Amino acid sequence: MDATSVFCDTKRRRPPFGGAEAVRLRHHPSSAPRRRKRRERVMPRTLGLIGSGLIGTSLARLAVAAGMEVVLSNSRGPESLAELVGTLGSGARAAVPEEAAEAGDLVVVTIPLRGYGRLPVAALRGRTVLDTMNYYPQRDGRIAELDAGRLTTSELVQRHLAGASVVKVFNNIGSHQLLSLARPAGAADRSALPLAGDEEPARREAARLLDVLGYDAVDMGPLAESWRSEPGTPVYTRPYLGETPPGLTAEEYFPWFLRNPGRPVPASLVRELTETAVRGPAGGVLPAGAAR
Ligand SMILES: NC(=O)c1ccc[n+]([C@@H]2O[C@H](COP(=O)([O-])OP(=O)(O)OC[C@H]3O[C@@H](n4cnc5c(N)ncnc54)[C@H](OP(=O)(O)O)[C@@H]3O)[C@@H](O)[C@H]2O)c1
Repeated sequence: MDATSVFCDTKRRRPPFGGAEAVRLRHHPSSAPRRRKRRERVMPRTLGLIGSGLIGTSLARLAVAAGMEVVLSNSRGPESLAELVGTLGSGARAAVPEEAAEAGDLVVVTIPLRGYGRLPVAALRGRTVLDTMNYYPQRDGRIAELDAGRLTTSELVQRHLAGASVVKVFNNIGSHQLLSLARPAGAADRSALPLAGDEEPARREAARLLDVLGYDAVDMGPLAESWRSEPGTPVYTRPYLGETPPGLTAEEYFPWFLRNPGRPVPASLVRELTETAVRGPAGGVLPAGAAR
């Protein structure tokens, strides 16, 4: 059994928070909506997921393994998620996106970026929303404000989600590596993930979730800085993949990406890669076989 399977022991159903369900934080902005203030005071117990594909499934597995409840949703309806929910066990259930948003102490939005305008604004108001989405014009169509470099993708999402506090996170690691590289706090081979958000309490909430799920966090600052982990930047997926096998063809790359267990990336390297990144054109190019 490797370190990952130890950490992701789904039989470990005790809460990851040592029984201290109400952990008081030092700061909370007096201007924030009451609902967000209440949620900042307690550790997250329920993860809401809007989008339950590759990344949503990996996050659900990590959250259930850590003793959290998860509420999954997608565009086709809860019944289409029955099989997945069955594999996750009693800590998981399926719902419609509005219900997943309402149920989650933290809510992850993890759908193709082209659908961001359909994310439920009212249900997400007052929430900390973790945004994993990346811009792939082949899949998402061209978005002029992104192409012009006027906004980062998460600023676009934040503008749509008025009243929510968006944090960019989980966008720069492949879904399989996200599962396989998770490690308990203090492990020598623990990896880090970058995050960005305009509100410091929301960034701290996201960092705390990362810790519970098996990662250290590297804070990049506001959403305007989140281009530092977008497709094409040095910290985007590659470091977590390790060496590409020699002779891998373009067609072989995506299947390898989907199953490669990856390589740990410590916080020091994530910090260095994000701090030295140079902003290029927005948007990535999907590998062969990945477009949907
Ligand atoms: N795959 C990766 O390794 C990876 C890594 C980092 C970041 N990302 C980014 O994270 C996002 C999700 O990627 P993914 O690979 O997990 O995608 P995916 O496997 O294609 O899954 C997308 C999910 O979003 C749901 N969805 C689509 N439109 C929706 C809507 N309007 N409301 C609710 N749910 C909706 C889909 O449900 P239906 O099937 O019912 O439509 C599906 O469950 C993308 O923006 C991607 O670029 C992906």
